[in-house]
Amino acid sequence: MTANLKRVVVAGGTGLVGRPLVQALVDLGADVTVMTRNPGRGGLPAGASARGWEDLATTLNGADAVINLAGEGIADKRWSAARKAVLLTSRVETTQRLVEAMRACPQPPAALVNASAIGFYVPADREPVDETSDSGMGFLAEVCRAWEVEAMAAAAFGVRVALVRVGVVLAKEGGALPKMALPVRWFHGCKLGRGTQGLSWIHLDDLVAMFVEAARNPAWRGAFNGTAPKPLSNGAFTRALAQRLHRPLLPVPGFLTAAATKLVLGELAEALLLQGAFVKPTRPLAQGFQFRFPTAEMALENLL
Ligand SMILES: NC(=O)c1ccc[n+]([C@@H]2O[C@H](COP(=O)([O-])OP(=O)(O)OC[C@H]3O[C@@H](n4cnc5c(N)ncnc54)[C@H](OP(=O)(O)O)[C@@H]3O)[C@@H](O)[C@H]2O)c1
Repeated sequence: MTANLKRVVVAGGTGLVGRPLVQALVDLGADVTVMTRNPGRGGLPAGASARGWEDLATTLNGADAVINLAGEGIADKRWSAARKAVLLTSRVETTQRLVEAMRACPQPPAALVNASAIGFYVPADREPVDETSDSGMGFLAEVCRAWEVEAMAAAAFGVRVALVRVGVVLAKEGGALPKMALPVRWFHGCKLGRGTQGLSWIHLDDLVAMFVEAARNPAWRGAFNGTAPKPLSNGAFTRALAQRLHRPLLPVPGFLTAAATKLVLGELAEALLLQGAFVKPTRPLAQGFQFRFPTAEMALENLL
């Protein structure tokens, strides 16, 4: 049984995931409010309106669902201590503000669907992980745990909370895919590091559908992996990309690409590119969620 989404608030609804998600909710007939730091910017689909982060309780009161995607871009800049603090607080403090405002609502929203990330898990080269697996060490896992704890606090006053641990989002419009495809197109493609590290990806359309389902289906409660059923290694994904683009790959030794990536990107290279987990979406599949793009070949054929 899915609930009818009449009014939905999307925090951070102006980004890569937010824009098509807002459009999908409008297409379903929902009245969508986008919470943004810049409500005057415009560019939202007809049927959606923008609000700032002030007077939150008025914005949230009586909503059928709040979807929270807000947070500074994890891979936008090198990680200094100051940048790491911004990445953490832009997630934890915004979520805390949302949850406190929900608590103050005369009629709290029915559901909170909060983004998290697969950085939650321990990186592993072979053994797949799912929602039952342990959380890892390191900065990304720390951010994800703190972010999830803030979101789960809403359950204490009766809000249904679903967490979507998002994988590497594949989209035409931005995110990781155009950056990964560029060197392959220009005959400079190669695996990164050993190439055996997991690369758990999801097509943007499937992720949008998963957020919608989590918002409207009362059975979606707790953590769900926002990844496709067939995660690949970095090496296998790069080969699939090269095949799709009809380009050869360079046989560069792994230690060289690892050193170069670390030199350019610093700590985030290790955390995001040179390590990874094979993350399975066990709980979305158990709920009957159907992926339009279950394999990397299908996703890449659609996107490139
Ligand atoms: N894309 C991926 O591959 C990926 C992978 C794993 C997890 N995720 C997570 O999924 C969420 C959505 O991803 P996305 O790719 O759509 O991200 P995005 O394009 O960077 O959009 C994030 C949104 O958050 C808002 N935001 C940024 N800094 C903020 C701050 N300090 N305070 C309040 N709002 C802030 C921005 O909205 P305004 O500028 O309008 O305020 C922006 O539109 C993110 O939290 C991200 O960490 C994404």
